[in-house]
Amino acid sequence: MRRFAALSFLLCIAVSTSAGGDEITASLTGAKGDPARGRALVASRQIGLCLLCHSGPFPEERFQGKLAPDLSSVARLSEGEIRARIVDPRRANPESIMPAYFSTQDLTRVAGGFRGKTILTAEQIEDVVAYLLTLR
Ligand code: HEC
Repeated sequence: MRRFAALSFLLCIAVSTSAGGDEITASLTGAKGDPARGRALVASRQIGLCLLCHSGPFPEERFQGKLAPDLSSVARLSEGEIRARIVDPRRANPESIMPAYFSTQDLTRVAGGFRGKTILTAEQIEDVVAYLLTLR
């Protein structure tokens, strides 16, 4: 239990102080994610909903979004930048319309079932990061 408390404390430091808020270099779980699970999350119309706004290399998915850069553009970002964009895009762009997938702070109009919860779990964030890294 004490080890867990120490770990969460370290995690908070890693999230809050890294590179001007624009990069989260450490894995949120301490482990690498699973790219196949990450791809399924990104393509999912129930969980990730990324394709509502983004397009990407998903030939099987019709009707991809045009409100945001094609996900292949992540090739120019570092792993830490990719993680930060998904955890909370407001760190890079305070006006972003992209949901903060791993934040419960300063959100507006949150549906009842999501109150106090993040959209994705730390493990799911790492799966998505692992998948996006395969697009480089
Ligand atoms: C409601 C629309 C919306 C949804 C849903 C959304 N995004 Fe975004 N995303 C954006 C916009 C718009 C940008 C461009 C930067 C900005 O305005 O914040 C962006 C930027 C990004 C970037 C940085 C791209 C770059 O080239 O700089 C990544 C990575 C990303 N999104 C991943 C995701 C993933 C993964 C999901 C699903 C888990 C997702 N987004 C869901 C709108 C969205």
